[in-house]
Amino acid sequence: MKRMRGSNLILGAALCLAMAPSALAQGNDLSIGRKMLMEDNPGELWIDQGKDLFHQKRGPKNVSLEQCDFGMGSGKLEGAAARLPRYFADTDRVEDLESRLLTCMTRLQGFDRNQLIKDAISAPASRGSDIEALALYVTSRSNGMKVNVSLSHKKEFDMYKAGEYLFYRRSGQTDFGCVQCHGEADKRIRLQDLVHMTSKAGAQEVAASWPAYRGAHYVVRTMQWRLNDCVWQMRLPDLKYATDYSIALTTYLNRQGNDAVMQVPGFKR
Ligand code: HEC
Repeated sequence: MKRMRGSNLILGAALCLAMAPSALAQGNDLSIGRKMLMEDNPGELWIDQGKDLFHQKRGPKNVSLEQCDFGMGSGKLEGAAARLPRYFADTDRVEDLESRLLTCMTRLQGFDRNQLIKDAISAPASRGSDIEALALYVTSRSNGMKVNVSLSHKKEFDMYKAGEYLFYRRSGQTDFGCVQCHGEADKRIRLQDLVHMTSKAGAQEVAASWPAYRGAHYVVRTMQWRLNDCVWQMRLPDLKYATDYSIALTTYLNRQGNDAVMQVPGFKR
């Protein structure tokens, strides 16, 4: 409880800052507020929830996720998320964090894939989904390490090239491409800063900060959620969870963000 009150206070302070002209003179007022919020990030609470879920015996097969291989060997989490997406021989696919979780939760634990996908993105102000908590816990074990997405496997390289193509491609009734909102510095929609992802710093911010606590929703959100939200802004059909479209874009963005130091949960508006 103390924690929540603290963040409300800080939120108040951040709003004042955002309105103060002197803050504008110091540069980006919103990013200052965001930095202050980072110091008391409620998303931290989801890490423990994810850790419990990871070690609990669950699902029809009643096993934990301790045998899940995120690319560094069974159960080895240190630095694993920093290298995702990557190619996995056992599925012969490039997988991002969330598709890898789906793989392990279905193959090892026996959960139903469709049900997992249905529950993956939680309602705002809920306790969050299992996948949201697990994704945050697994990623948090790369905190302090550098993003290091490799393209040495041909399928990784192809996924990266597909992501690059999709990032620049215009589509749908509004003829929007990612690049129109995220291809220039200092762009905003309403009061929201748009991350400049064709710059190294912008791509690094993305690669290092997801899953993130989303203040407006009071829950932790994952990259799959974020991409779906942008696809919605582009008025494209809903993004199907953990399909190649999103894995390609994440491969592209994370690779562009190589060498960023991971720090999750991020804190987003
Ligand atoms: C119509 C404008 C628009 C388009 C087009 C768009 N986005 Fe976004 N994007 C946004 C907004 C708005 C935010 C959230 C900003 C905020 O909450 O402060 C955002 C945030 C993001 C973020 C999170 C940045 C961070 O804070 O780390 C990612 C990643 C992202 N977009 C990727 C994409 C990709 C990939 C595409 C193309 C498939 C895309 N966006 C297309 C408007 C757009």
